[in-house]
Amino acid sequence: MKLRTIVLKVNPQYPEPEKIREAAKVIEAGGLVAFPTETVYGLGANALDLKAVLRIYEAKKRPPDNPVITHVAHKEDVYRLAREVPDDAEKLMDAFWPGPLTLLLKKARDVPRPGGLDEITIRMPANKIALALIAASKPIAAPSANLSGRPSPTTAEHVLQDLDGRIEMVLDGGPTEIGVESTVLDMTSKPYRILRPGGVTLEDLRRILRDVEVHPAALAKAPTDLAKAPGMKYRHYAPKAPMILVEGKPEDVVRKVKEIAKEHEGEVIGIMATEETAGSYDIGIVKVVGRRSEPRSIARNLFKTLREFDQLGVKLIIAEGMEEKGIGLAISNRLRKAAGYNIINATEGEKG
Ligand code: TXA
Ligand code: MG
Repeated sequence: MKLRTIVLKVNPQYPEPEKIREAAKVIEAGGLVAFPTETVYGLGANALDLKAVLRIYEAKKRPPDNPVITHVAHKEDVYRLAREVPDDAEKLMDAFWPGPLTLLLKKARDVPRPGGLDEITIRMPANKIALALIAASKPIAAPSANLSGRPSPTTAEHVLQDLDGRIEMVLDGGPTEIGVESTVLDMTSKPYRILRPGGVTLEDLRRILRDVEVHPAALAKAPTDLAKAPGMKYRHYAPKAPMILVEGKPEDVVRKVKEIAKEHEGEVIGIMATEETAGSYDIGIVKVVGRRSEPRSIARNLFKTLREFDQLGVKLIIAEGMEEKGIGLAISNRLRKAAGYNIINATEGEKG
């Protein structure tokens, strides 16, 4: 089915009510609307309409066993969607909502889910356009608004690169702030486990609750299908060109990236560097993803930079690894998956 995708520019500070109403009508009718959140753009459908939710899978070409997140605008919706809301979940909602934290809870029996899952993931995004659209609709199911496997979209332009003609509408609210997706936390058993690191960090969560750990698969050091979150087993965030991720101490990383670049002299290669290191390279197309001293700037530009390399048609991307502290855990997770686990440790000099 080829659709004409309508693009509406929306004021991110004061979303125009008539535009929100227009988008809500599309959702109401079972259609698909891409909209900005503070993390990445989401592809929304009425979460309570199973047919509409299945259209998301079709538009994204998403594997049917990878469940989507339900977005709410009011905390009260959580009590309708989940059959148990632990006190600890209340504490996290109070601390981090609206914001980039998704809670995995036991699902209420009357909420439909593709595949009949017994659990549901819920989040309240911190973006005025998203909140206005959800408030004007019912809870909205929304994965990232990219074709399955591609880097997540952080602008309306990225959404169109993947989904033009496949969805009814895009709300263009400008670039997203955080740039990597929300943190997914499994609260169905203790210790609570991060299934996907994201905008709210492990350190942030531990300031509120002691009992939080990182699921080993969330580190994404190697492929796995023991994963609790089905999404963790797929290749994700992948640019078109093959990618090598070089991890280790920054000085070792720079040395190793240069060495690999040299081996590919004469080919069109891209180097994903940081402000601190970019000056060290004299071959390849060098792109600065952000500042090591301010890792949130790296998160913000990460997916955009991968898409830019694609558009330049590079044949290989060599990316510098980042420190795993704070938001760095989410950055490393995305880089490792984008590289298809093609990881070199420059400090230990070993592969893996
Ligand atoms: O920041 C975000 O979370 C963005 C924006 C649009 O809100 N959404 C997003 O959705 O990243 P998506 O579908 O691309 O990623 C959802 C992740 C996947 O890893 C999926 O496997 C996991 O959450 N997930 C969702 N529901 C689940 C469930 N019931 N059980 C286990 N994992 C679940
Ligand atoms: Mg996604």
